Amino acid sequence: MMPLGYLAPTTHRDPMITYRRMHRSEQARFAQVDRSERITQAYRQHGRELELVAVDWLAEPWSFPAILREWAPFLQDDCALWGAFDGDVLIGFCGYRPNVAPGTGQFALLHVSNPYRGRGIGRRLAEALFAYARAQEATALYVTATPTRSTVEFYLGLGFEPTDDPLPALLELEPEDIHMRMTIRAD
Ligand SMILES: CC(C)(COP(=O)(O)OP(=O)(O)OC[C@H]1O[C@@H](n2cnc3c(N)ncnc32)[C@H](O)[C@@H]1OP(=O)(O)O)[C@@H](O)C(=O)NCCC(=O)NCCS
Repeated sequence: MMPLGYLAPTTHRDPMITYRRMHRSEQARFAQVDRSERITQAYRQHGRELELVAVDWLAEPWSFPAILREWAPFLQDDCALWGAFDGDVLIGFCGYRPNVAPGTGQFALLHVSNPYRGRGIGRRLAEALFAYARAQEATALYVTATPTRSTVEFYLGLGFEPTDDPLPALLELEPEDIHMRMTIRAD
């Protein structure tokens, strides 16, 4: 039995939604999340500066198992996952990978289902991940953010800042993403 760890199973903010740690063997459940999004604004990164540009993108629902193949390098033994559930349906998740650089963990795979966005679910998942990272004695987090305005502003709101010193391996994997870092303090 995997401990819930660092995350109470329910939140006062939205009593319909429950949160728990997930095991990576549950990854097929990611298909339950509706990733769809119409995107009209996105950021481009120039070192620490961000430029907002108009775009016309449609993020389609995921194609399984292609998306799991893409995420396989992340979904290793040492990753930690959290899920948000409405009843038995997964409506959001995120993941943490330790030691992508000394003292630095990666915040990744964050997605909330389209109809559930803007209700604090992403922030609640992030808070669970931050607490876990602190307990693991990480002092910084790294994220490669999808460049859409909503996603980048979500991460800026959490305290991430664009970096002019991206991790080469992650930059090679995600050259169009916005690479950001955040210092985390001990509790
Ligand atoms: C990015 C995402 C995970 C945010 O999840 P969410 O549950 O909608 O976010 P929350 O409701 O917890 O919002 C948290 C904060 O982000 C801000 N935020 C959320 N959506 C935003 C938007 N569209 N524009 C600007 N800020 C936004 C909110 O103001 C909120 O701040 P507050 O807590 O001070 O009020 C969600 O929009 C999503 O799944 N997007 C598509 C997938 C994606 O791009 N994932 C990221 C991959 S790197």
